[in-house]
Amino acid sequence: MSTVPRAIAIAHPNIALAKYWGKRTDGHNLPAVPSLSVTLAGLATTTEVAFDAALERDELHLGGAAVRPDAEATRRVAGLLDRVRAASGRREHARVVSSNDFPTAAGLASSASAFAALALAASAAAGLSTAPEAVSDLARKTSVSAARSAFGGFVELRVGRPGDETLAATPLASADHWPLAVVIAVTREGPKDVGSSDGMRHTVTTSPYFPAWVASAPALFAAVRAAIHARDFAALGAAAEASALRMHASSIAADPGLLYWTGATVEVIAEVRRLRARGEPVFFTIDAGPHVKVFTTPEARDAVSRALLAVPGVLRTIAAVPGEAARLVLGSGSTSSA
Ligand code: PMV
Repeated sequence: MSTVPRAIAIAHPNIALAKYWGKRTDGHNLPAVPSLSVTLAGLATTTEVAFDAALERDELHLGGAAVRPDAEATRRVAGLLDRVRAASGRREHARVVSSNDFPTAAGLASSASAFAALALAASAAAGLSTAPEAVSDLARKTSVSAARSAFGGFVELRVGRPGDETLAATPLASADHWPLAVVIAVTREGPKDVGSSDGMRHTVTTSPYFPAWVASAPALFAAVRAAIHARDFAALGAAAEASALRMHASSIAADPGLLYWTGATVEVIAEVRRLRARGEPVFFTIDAGPHVKVFTTPEARDAVSRALLAVPGVLRTIAAVPGEAARLVLGSGSTSSA
């Protein structure tokens, strides 16, 4: 068992092709639907965790600034650290210093990379197992989508068995299985209005369409999974777009309706459809924010990026490709179960 009290980890965001939206009602932060994502290279969160007996509480520094102790982000970080302390026997509080090289909390999946990096760095610093399944389960208890960023490439997260509190993502195919390209059309700077946890709670409790979303998600998950195995771009696009649109439809039908889109979001969807009608390999997906994530091939990427930049309301584009699992850059890992 490692006793290094300090570790640094890097993790990447992931984009779900089969969406997770809504939690099971039996607690433990378990998802109501299976999901499948691609971990990205090109965007990263770097997080340092240092346990320190001189600290009176857990501290979070984000992008160079101290976050207030009573802020939601600090509470979620402290919740994960409590689990690490309970499992490792360590008692010190920790200083957590984290930075993203992309916009935070704007629907660019920053919570996924943030909690995957935190789970790995905290586990290493506390001498717990840094095996990806252990890191995935620990991260999932705070942010479901973060479970998937523990692994690289194409990653799935099932719903788990009733009564089982443990649930980790599993890798489906490596990043080089299928060299897709992603172009993110950024349609707004700054944080989103409704975070994904609040948004899904509101959808689960008030949307008459939520049960329909839960009923249809497993078949879409299976279609996404089969298309990835077969490297069938058209089939993947059809299933991924249906997953995103049905997820958003469930929120739009909540009371009051929850709409993450702006006018530019809709304009980008229209442009993706025009590009596809002209024969370009493109499909879109949208998370809990106004940006549109467009999947294409490496050959078509530059043309797609130019077309998206020309859409009114698109501020800029970010390019990414399938990438690697979360990893330690300082501190020793241990894959034995501590
Ligand atoms: O786990 P969270 O709270 O980051 O929720 C993520 C939900 C979506 O990004 C909208 C979909 C997904 O599967 O990543």
